[in-house]
Amino acid sequence: MTYQGLIHRYKQYLDLPDHTRIISLLEGDTPLIPMPRLGRELGCELFVKFEGLNPTGSFKDRGMTAAVSEAVGRGAGTVICASTGNTAASAAAYAARAGLRSIVLIPEGKVAVGKLAGAIAYGAEVIQIQGSFDDALSLVVEITQKTPIALVNSINPYRIEGQKTSAFEICDELGSAPDWLCLPVGNAGNITSYWAGFKQYQKGLPRVLGVQAAGAAPLVLGRPVEKPETVATAIRIGKPARGEQALEAAGQSNGKIVAVSDEEILSAQRMLALEGVWVEPASAAGLAGLVAESGVGKLEAKGKRVVVVCTGHGMKDPSIITESFASPKAIPADYRALAEMIGA
Ligand code: F0G
Repeated sequence: MTYQGLIHRYKQYLDLPDHTRIISLLEGDTPLIPMPRLGRELGCELFVKFEGLNPTGSFKDRGMTAAVSEAVGRGAGTVICASTGNTAASAAAYAARAGLRSIVLIPEGKVAVGKLAGAIAYGAEVIQIQGSFDDALSLVVEITQKTPIALVNSINPYRIEGQKTSAFEICDELGSAPDWLCLPVGNAGNITSYWAGFKQYQKGLPRVLGVQAAGAAPLVLGRPVEKPETVATAIRIGKPARGEQALEAAGQSNGKIVAVSDEEILSAQRMLALEGVWVEPASAAGLAGLVAESGVGKLEAKGKRVVVVCTGHGMKDPSIITESFASPKAIPADYRALAEMIGA
């Protein structure tokens, strides 16, 4: 049967109200890509769940199809979110699809160009906040408490319902849950969703490695970070809304939450790209955590089946690559010049 989107496929597992009216861009059903070379290096059976292949280029579409389907079904006319970029693009796309107005609040100057362009292209009203993601989130929470505007951040429980489906897909693909699941943690909606999804699906439970950027690691430090900073702008978050649940997922699964440096994140991004999977920096944090932990032998991932979740596509943040790269050499349009250049 042709694919009709993840609400349709997993409806019986999703706690969505009767008034839900499905708004879908055929999100989900993303590939679980085997990474044999990297896996050999790390001594495990490694897969990447490539969530960058969702319609707007990130995993947010899983939660957004659910949140917008519920909102439109209950008669909402406007949706709003705070975002480091991906949620904004996703909210804008699903609102456009549903014929709703969308308003997105982003931290000034800290959103990657592919995400901002997406939000604009899909017709969102984009507002920069002179503050952090956390400040923007407080504002949207307040305005949705005082007005009928629908909140589509992952505080919205339907976002979690939609995002659980990635855990279902992994189990369907592998036949059971992997031994380890490694993923980036920002506002902590996604780690909460995966853990809920694995528990519900009853195909085994992975140990969960949640990975934060060292400059934005409130869950590792055990306290909020007032001025989070990291090259992985998607997870530049100091007060995760679902922090408690992230700690619970790590604790209950006998996993852990760790922090990695920006250098480790960018190195993991290169490792993935050189095996053909280009992801944005935050999305490489899961692998960076796995590498860091495997290196010191603490993770016990040796010989195990490991799924690394790559949450967003590399094309979301092209400048991180182009800015660190001198422009390609120019040569005359001449065969000899080319032959000389490539040593042929
Ligand atoms: N990876 C990417 C690419 C993200 O965009 C985000 C979050 C995360 C990981 C972390 O997920 O917040 O559920 O722990 N981005 C949000 C946004 C905050 O606004 O797009 P989380």
